[in-house]
Amino acid sequence: MTARLPLQPDRTGLAEAARLLRNGRLVAFPTETVYGLGAHALDPDAVARIFAAKGRPPDNPLIVHINDPAALDDLVLRVTPLAHKLVEAFWPGPLTLVLDARPAVPRATTGGLATVAVRMPDHPVAAALLAAAEVPVAAPSANLSGRPSPTTAAHVVHDLGGAIDAVLDGGPCPVGVESTVVDARGEVPVVLREGSISREDLGAGDAHDGPTPAAAAASPGTRYRHYAPSCPVLLTSPGDAATQAATAAQAGRRVGLVASVPAPEGVLQVARFVDAADLAKRLYAALRDAEVAGLDLLVVESVPPDGVGRAVMDRLRRAAEAAGPT
Ligand code: TXA
Ligand code: MG
Repeated sequence: MTARLPLQPDRTGLAEAARLLRNGRLVAFPTETVYGLGAHALDPDAVARIFAAKGRPPDNPLIVHINDPAALDDLVLRVTPLAHKLVEAFWPGPLTLVLDARPAVPRATTGGLATVAVRMPDHPVAAALLAAAEVPVAAPSANLSGRPSPTTAAHVVHDLGGAIDAVLDGGPCPVGVESTVVDARGEVPVVLREGSISREDLGAGDAHDGPTPAAAAASPGTRYRHYAPSCPVLLTSPGDAATQAATAAQAGRRVGLVASVPAPEGVLQVARFVDAADLAKRLYAALRDAEVAGLDLLVVESVPPDGVGRAVMDRLRRAAEAAGPT
């Protein structure tokens, strides 16, 4: 199958995308975080196509996207007082709430869990698509399983072009890292995946970096290897990035640098950022660019692990681990 590449997010494109979704087909679309690979969330056959296209393990549950907080009532058994509070404070936005699922939500969507993850994205194209589709839309990041999440339509086409029905092109995603996933069933938010809404924003405390073992068990996606670029990633402290890159280049390796400082001679500047939020925006594109450039090593400067920096460091550590020792 050849995807309609790309669909413009105008009236015609949105109507076509909405029709495809209602008919059980796969449509990739931009959100404020990353591009999602959408399918009708209440149609088990449509949802199965997502898992097949991505090569995603079937027990890794999907996030259901809605365009109106009222639609939450059709998906979850109980909107807890905590969930009400979080919806009020953060929707539309990059916060995903995990709540007890209604039986109408297929187990294919929830990866077999009795809970469902729901979010209302803050992106005009996503909002227009969801409004036109008039169905809840399950959407994981629109990358092949194990690849960096896509932040442009071109990234989606690269990974999934032959396997999906359409891509709506909304330009680069403004945030660049995925939503924060929170278990909102109890009285306090439990962060299952770090994202662009920080623990500080949520008032969830900052006792540890990354999910606890309990959280990892509750959010299956965090168990899987993620964000694995094909070239090794070396995470360095801010003062060391340029020197480390220069040393590796002098040893004859093709080296790239993602840092707040200029690349030294013989090193490719893959991205230069000003702060953690700026790095969040560029990170996944940089990992993909490093592959395209055929680098032997990508040296990345760390950012402070607070605010969105915590999510950035979580993704970077996974990339560094997945790529193996340098
Ligand atoms: O920003 C985002 O969240 C993007 C855009 C497209 O919305 N979506 C995204 O989806 O990142 P995905 O599938 O790549 O990541 C979803 C994460 C996984 O870690 C998954 O395990 C977790 O959410 N999750 C989904 N449903 C869950 C549930 N019922 N309980 C616990 N974790 C859940
Ligand atoms: Mg993903």
